[in-house]
Amino acid sequence: MNRRDFLITTSAAALFPRIAVASAPVELVAQPVNAQILPEGEPATPMLGFNGGTPGPVLRIRQGEVFDIRFQNQIDEGSAVHWHGLRIENAMDGVPGMTQDVVEAGGEFEYSFRAPDAGTFWYHSHNRSWEQVAKGLYGPLIVEEPTPPDVDHDLIVMIDDWRITENGGLADGFENMHDQAHQGRLGNFARALVEPVTQVRRGDRVRLRLINVATDRIFPVELEGVEGKVVALDGMPLVDLKELSRLILAPAQRADIIADVTSADAMSFVFPTRDGPYLLGEIAIEEENTTRAPSEISALPPNEVAQPDMENPVSLTLTMEGGAMSQRMMQGMMGNGIWAFNGQSGLTDTPLHSFARGQTARIRLVNDTRFPHGIHLHGHHFFEVGSDGSLGAFRDTTLVDPGGTRDIVCVFDNPGKWLLHCHMLGHQAAGMKTWVKVM
Ligand code: C2O
Ligand code: CU
Repeated sequence: MNRRDFLITTSAAALFPRIAVASAPVELVAQPVNAQILPEGEPATPMLGFNGGTPGPVLRIRQGEVFDIRFQNQIDEGSAVHWHGLRIENAMDGVPGMTQDVVEAGGEFEYSFRAPDAGTFWYHSHNRSWEQVAKGLYGPLIVEEPTPPDVDHDLIVMIDDWRITENGGLADGFENMHDQAHQGRLGNFARALVEPVTQVRRGDRVRLRLINVATDRIFPVELEGVEGKVVALDGMPLVDLKELSRLILAPAQRADIIADVTSADAMSFVFPTRDGPYLLGEIAIEEENTTRAPSEISALPPNEVAQPDMENPVSLTLTMEGGAMSQRMMQGMMGNGIWAFNGQSGLTDTPLHSFARGQTARIRLVNDTRFPHGIHLHGHHFFEVGSDGSLGAFRDTTLVDPGGTRDIVCVFDNPGKWLLHCHMLGHQAAGMKTWVKVM
């Protein structure tokens, strides 16, 4: 049986590819790479990456400091880098055709920004992202708190899946219409990628920064061998910490966890599938930390967030339509017209809405399709509104179930042109995107 059909065989990924750390000043070079995605002994996979590898190097920034990155494009088509979740100035957002020109093959672009929020973010190509991200053009971006929480290890865990052929190459067909009209491009092999780690001991307190970098797959993840709390979502600290249980991460979503190692042999990341648990990866535990005194896990320091004006919000509805088995497709909408927001596929000359700077909006996201969608807004975070009307987590990507509705509340306080799209990148490619303007 083909071991790469992981959903069938639930085989274990025993080894982690390691994520490298960049040192300042940062040069970020997009280029073809050979990555050992499959276990050792299997062929390396020709992909794209940054600075020789995929994921690209860990970028660590201090909150509030100016960070300069010289991006060089050494792949054979245009590209650009988007800093996912950072509320930075529009010109640095990395969206070709909207905030900058595409960086042509052989070209360069200087990014420079001040990251206002501490937390777990990531960067990725935003040109033909359904293909360039699937090929590996992404990396972790960490904005450090001035006083980081007291932990023994700060670990980045990127979760991805790949569609790999018999001889170890990436399957092509990045614009496969059947994929796009369904859940998107799902891989046949998945794993968790971690930064190099010094020895983890039982009794250590760890911070785990989980990032779903898959183009289209929603990952449920269970952590074994640790006990703790979810302390942040999409980079933003939670006020009320959540008990650690099964996490659901849509593409682009992140979760920060602070936990104590309870196992004497391994900390594991498990993807529960219909056919049983699939081990994404594990970190070996050796020895014991005997000096750490037990203590409460407390909330991370908050980022500065504008308070929404709940008295007078602008009300908007964004209805997701299309996909397999939809009216839209039966009427013959194909290619980049498969999916739509409010009946409209792709970007129009005029924005979905123009906001006065600082205006609060309450947006009802209605999923009138048979598939879940992870909706992402650039340049801002928004509150998920709970069923009781209370403001919940402050996120940049929200998952809306088929047939479901979710209200979000956002203070549009960052001027510019901002994309609003499904982060299932195959859906985005097939029309599920729009934009808003903040004056
Ligand atoms: Cu993670 Cu439009 O991006
Ligand atoms: Cu979608």
